[in-house]
Amino acid sequence: MEMKVFFCFSFFVLLSVTSLARSQVVKPGHDQIKEFHFHIYWLQNNPEQEWQALTLKEKIVDEVHNGNFTVVCDGITNEILPTINEDEVPGFNVQPIGPHSCGSFETWVPRESYAKFLSFILLNRGDLTIFIHPLGNNEIDDHTIHASWLGQSYPLDLSPLSAVGGDDPQYPELGLGYNAM
Ligand SMILES: *[C@@H]1O[C@H](CO)[C@@H](O)[C@H](O)[C@H]1NC(C)=O
Repeated sequence: MEMKVFFCFSFFVLLSVTSLARSQVVKPGHDQIKEFHFHIYWLQNNPEQEWQALTLKEKIVDEVHNGNFTVVCDGITNEILPTINEDEVPGFNVQPIGPHSCGSFETWVPRESYAKFLSFILLNRGDLTIFIHPLGNNEIDDHTIHASWLGQSYPLDLSPLSAVGGDDPQYPELGLGYNAM
């Protein structure tokens, strides 16, 4: 009888440990989220919002230039981050793109800069919506149950996203996030 209880108990321990291990693999070799995207949204037919988005983008670039935090968005060049592969930096999207239903630009944020960047964006976003999602191993989860919004949320088109893979690795040359030593 006792043996039976013991086996039953061991079985449940094993089951919960393996499911825990599976659910915690964020990227191969990583059990925590170490990189995020902050997508700055703006209504692409609204010149006032476009101006706000361009101004916010310039402020972000200035902060990176001055070494206040390291994030990557349109406008970051080799002059600012010497090792970066400029060809990989996405542009300022004047129309909906991928899952995003309005104008947007992506800002890649490694965990080393997360708190400073979040503080900056909370104080500087104005009326603009910010969509924050992790770079994990399931694009659908990353953009839904693991995502957060500053300001009003917008509908996403999930059809371009994968449930069995995450976003491609970005900027390993910076040695931050998943590529930190
Ligand atoms: C960067 O940080 C310094 C020191 O906190 C601050 O004075 C400055 O305004 C910040 N922004 C820029 C763009 O340098």
